[in-house]
Amino acid sequence: MSKLAEFSDGQKIPQLGFGVAGILPEDTQAMVEGALGAGYLMIDNASIYKNEVEVGRALERSDVAAGDVFVTSKVWPLDYGFDNVIKACHKSLGDLRREAFDLYLLHWPVPSLGLYVESWKALIELQKQGLVKSIGVSNFYPEQLQKLIDETGVVPVINQIELHPYYQRRAEKKFHDEHNIVTQCWSPLGRATCLLDDALVGIAAKHDKTPAQIVLNWQIEQGNVVIPRSRNMGRMQQNFDVYGFELDDEDRRQIAALDKGLDGRLGEDFDLKELPND
Ligand code: A2P
Repeated sequence: MSKLAEFSDGQKIPQLGFGVAGILPEDTQAMVEGALGAGYLMIDNASIYKNEVEVGRALERSDVAAGDVFVTSKVWPLDYGFDNVIKACHKSLGDLRREAFDLYLLHWPVPSLGLYVESWKALIELQKQGLVKSIGVSNFYPEQLQKLIDETGVVPVINQIELHPYYQRRAEKKFHDEHNIVTQCWSPLGRATCLLDDALVGIAAKHDKTPAQIVLNWQIEQGNVVIPRSRNMGRMQQNFDVYGFELDDEDRRQIAALDKGLDGRLGEDFDLKELPND
């Protein structure tokens, strides 16, 4: 059973969820059914992943009660603008066959579009209408978070960013903590690149765990919410089995030393790059 993190609006989110980015539509239903069977009670989705219908089907077929699964989706920047965001949310809710999302996020700020504040206002409206319980963002830098706060007075409950041992983003995490924003980590395993690192292999051997389990335990003990991805059932189950042991200060010191700053970044930055549509 995953531990829970609490949002500033009072809602709780399982700290350990299953991310479906990059899972092909034809594989999605089986993987999500497997994840629910393994105990995951939070699914992280987005319209751009193009597998919301298949996730919806898995949720419908599962023995787990619909209300027990925490479901997130995200609006893609090409759907930004007040009315478009409202429309996009209705479309995602229909595809996933949900009456409301537990969490709905702006996927990237893309400041060149000039639409993220207006789109944030649409999320505030969706929350008022009861179509989304909590609202947050993804891939926002502190200055962009501050702009949302200054212009609307509404603080996102969560910011989902790339964060892993090679890219630890301590200053951003500190900003989140100071503003009661939960840090959610995509690619929490660093796309598996850090799992072969000698330090993590050594810590894993000491605790009789895998490097992935060490990284996820380290993320969770800091209060982060993680959504490890795997297209493999065994590894997906392994990634849920991350409790029942505690890192010591020497482990923490060694993991802290793995940070490469910006050089550790693995994902794209859509603030700089042209947005894909599929
Ligand atoms: P696979 O899908 O073959 O399991 P991240 O979530 O950081 O983006 O990492 C995803 C990558 O890490 C995928 O390539 C995935 O491969 C791999 N991965 C996920 N879980 C594990 C694990 N427990 N051990 C090793 N590699 C893993």
